This record gives sequence, structure tokens and C-alpha cells, in this order.
Amino acid sequence: MRTILVTGGAGFIGSNFIRFLMKRSPYYQVVNLDKLTYAGNPANLKQVENWKHYHFIQGDICCRELVEDIFQEFSVDCLVNFAAETHVDRSIITPEVFIQTNVLGTVNLLNTAKRHWEKTPQSISDKKFIQISTDEVYGSLGKEGYFTETTPLDPHSPYAASKAAADLLAKSYFDTYGLPVNITRCSNNYGPYQFPEKLIPLVITNALHKRDIPVYGDGLNVRDWLYVEDHCAAIALVMQKGKAGEIYNIGGHQEKTNLQLIKTILTYLHDNVDSSITENLIKYVEDRKGHDRRYGIDPTKIHAELGWSAKILLDTGIEKTIRWYLDHEEWTRDLIAQGSPQLDLESHGSGDGL
Ligand code: NAD
Ligand code: TYD
Repeated sequence: MRTILVTGGAGFIGSNFIRFLMKRSPYYQVVNLDKLTYAGNPANLKQVENWKHYHFIQGDICCRELVEDIFQEFSVDCLVNFAAETHVDRSIITPEVFIQTNVLGTVNLLNTAKRHWEKTPQSISDKKFIQISTDEVYGSLGKEGYFTETTPLDPHSPYAASKAAADLLAKSYFDTYGLPVNITRCSNNYGPYQFPEKLIPLVITNALHKRDIPVYGDGLNVRDWLYVEDHCAAIALVMQKGKAGEIYNIGGHQEKTNLQLIKTILTYLHDNVDSSITENLIKYVEDRKGHDRRYGIDPTKIHAELGWSAKILLDTGIEKTIRWYLDHEEWTRDLIAQGSPQLDLESHGSGDGL
């Protein structure tokens, strides 16, 4: 049985990944280390709570003693690092916490893995450190072209810069110490359990509450959307078959402008849920500072080398996601009741946000 240390497993993608592992394999033991920031929610993990091979530890990836203790207690074969501060708008307001967790926390994980795995050099090739990164490290595209793994890093937000720094550090641990690292860079994810500060759940939640939907700038920025389960499947393949030291871009060529996406969601809600939900909810607000115009992933490498491709088309995935939020209204209600700190959207003129 392989022991997988998942960090940030109470967040959106990490919790989907743990469920993904539980459903597919009896051969894993999962240890989830999560600080439970505003974005981490134990309710995301209800389905795995009673899985006998699952252990939850509340704590900070920056804490040297704690991560050391976890490596001592569990013989960690693979570390998948999802733990991060992830919201671009928050990074513009408070960059420091992004540097702390995303950069220094990652270095602490790298150091601890190195210390432990070096003790048995004969089995280091069975170990794996997977740094979950993002296409945002590449910066912004014009109308043409895609990000490949060799596109130069050109991050624009403090969030993206902190992720790029962590990527370079992870790569340096492979180059310098031979630590078996993979870096994955995925496009924008969507699906169940995403905190409603990100575009898709924010649009669904605000529309259902008849609140304004803030559209930054002209709404023509393009994002390349991937259903979260497709991302989880790609990570699992990298875990099993990724070649040490390699970077893998993950995306499914499903680009939309923000306005196209918002209108698709509003149309679905209007036609299927409440005919009073209309495009009148859209409110153009001040643009995000340093707002990247377009992201687009070239997934040729992961397709050719590991056989991965996206399975869920955007229209299907959006419908599944809307249905999930409709069927789990208590999940969002509980977040509000717990007083999850909301981004101050006053400056965007959208009023009360979530
Ligand atoms: P999220 O914000 O939903 O979850 C982050 C989790 O990390 C939370 O559970 C939080 O409690 C935990 N965490 C934060 N700081 C911590 C710390 N110091 N110690 C331990 N735990 C801590 O994020 P997400 O959307 O699930 O993203 C997960 C990872 O995937 C991130 O590294 C992000 O950069 C990357 N990523 C996200 C997307 C996306 O569209 N969401 C796309 C590509 C890559
Ligand atoms: P977001 O979900 O924050 O992801 P990212 O910035 O990491 O791509 O935003 C997706 C896009 O939607 C981005 O172009 C910013 C835009 N956006 C809005 O127009 N209004 C909003 O309220 C939010 C949260 C995002």
C-alpha cells in the first residue's frame, strides 16, 4: 500500500483528488495535511471521513516540526502539494501570505521530503513529489498560440509569481539533489466544492440569490476551463507514470471569454430553474489590476507521454456543476453561516458578494 501525503486536501481540487483516489484504488493510504484556512472546509471531505485508509491532520505546511513528524509517523511515498493561497484578487490585496504558504511552505515540504527520502537512496526512484502549479505562471497570451512546458515564465499577479517561485524551487531540488519532482501546470478548474469567490461558483451563487454578477473590465478575457475530475485523473497519471524532473501542462482546449461563460450559466438557470434570472444581473465593474488577457494550454506532452486527455466537455461539465450547487445549497449556506471572510467587492461596486 502506498502512502500519499496530500497537502491542502480540504480545498477544492485537493478534496476532489482524495475522493478520486478513494473511489479508484484500495491500494492507497492518504494523509491529508490542511491548515483549514477560509478555503479549507471539512465538509468537502464527508465522503472520505470513514475511509479506513484516510487520516486528517490540521496544520500548516510551513511548520517544520509538524511535517517532520508526519514523515516520521507515516512512511510517505508520494507528496502531492495542493496547499496554497489561490485567489488572484486576494493576492493583490495581501501578497505576503501568498509568499509565506506558496513559497516558504513548499520549500519546507521539499526539504522534509529530501531529508527522509535520502535516507534510503536505493528506493528514491519509487518516491514522488508533485507540485501542483498553474498555467498562470506563464503570464498572458495574445489571440494566437498556446502555453507549452517551455514557454518562459512571466507571472503578473503576486499569486502567479508565488507559484512560479515555488515551481523554480521544486525544479532546483531535482536538478541539485535528484529529488524526484514533477510539476503540473493546469488551466482553470471548475466543478463541485469550489469556493464561491472564483468565477463559476460565484456566478451560480449570486444568480440564485439575484445578486449582481461583477464582470471585470470588458468581460472578454479568455480562460481555458477544465472539469476538476479531468485534472485529478491527470495528476494520478503523473503520480504513476510521470518521469522525474518533468513538467506537464494540463488542459483540454476549452476556451471561453468570461462573458460567454457567464451567459451560458445564466441561460441554463433561466431555462431550468428560475425564469427571473436574466443577463440583467451582469454588472460591469472596474478591471482587475494586471488582469491577464488570455490563457490557453497546449496539452500535447501529457497526451503523448502519459496518454491523458480531457473527457468532460465544457457544456456537460457546467451543467453538472450547476446541478451540484443546486443539490448542495446547504454547503454554500453553511459557509455563509460560518462567516467565511468574503472578498470585499465594494471596490468593484457589486455590493454584498456571496
Ligand atoms: P483552494 O483555495 O480551494 O484550497 C487550498 C487549500 O489549501 C485549502 O484547503 C487551505 O485550507 C489549504 N491551505 C492554505 N494554506 C495552507 C497552509 N499554509 N498549510 C496547509 N494547508 C493550507 O485551492 P484549489 O483551487 O483547490 O487549488 C489547489 C492547488 O491547485 C493550488 O496549489 C493552486 O495553485 C492549484 N491550481 C488551481 C487551479 C484552479 O483553477 N483552482 C488551477 C490550476 C492550479
Ligand atoms: P478566477 O475564477 O478568479 O480565476 P483566475 O483569475 O485564476 O483565472 O477568474 C476567472 C476570470 O473571471 C478572470 O478573468 C477574472 C474574471 N472574474 C470576473 O470577471 N468577475 C469576478 O467576480 C471574478 C471572481 C472573476
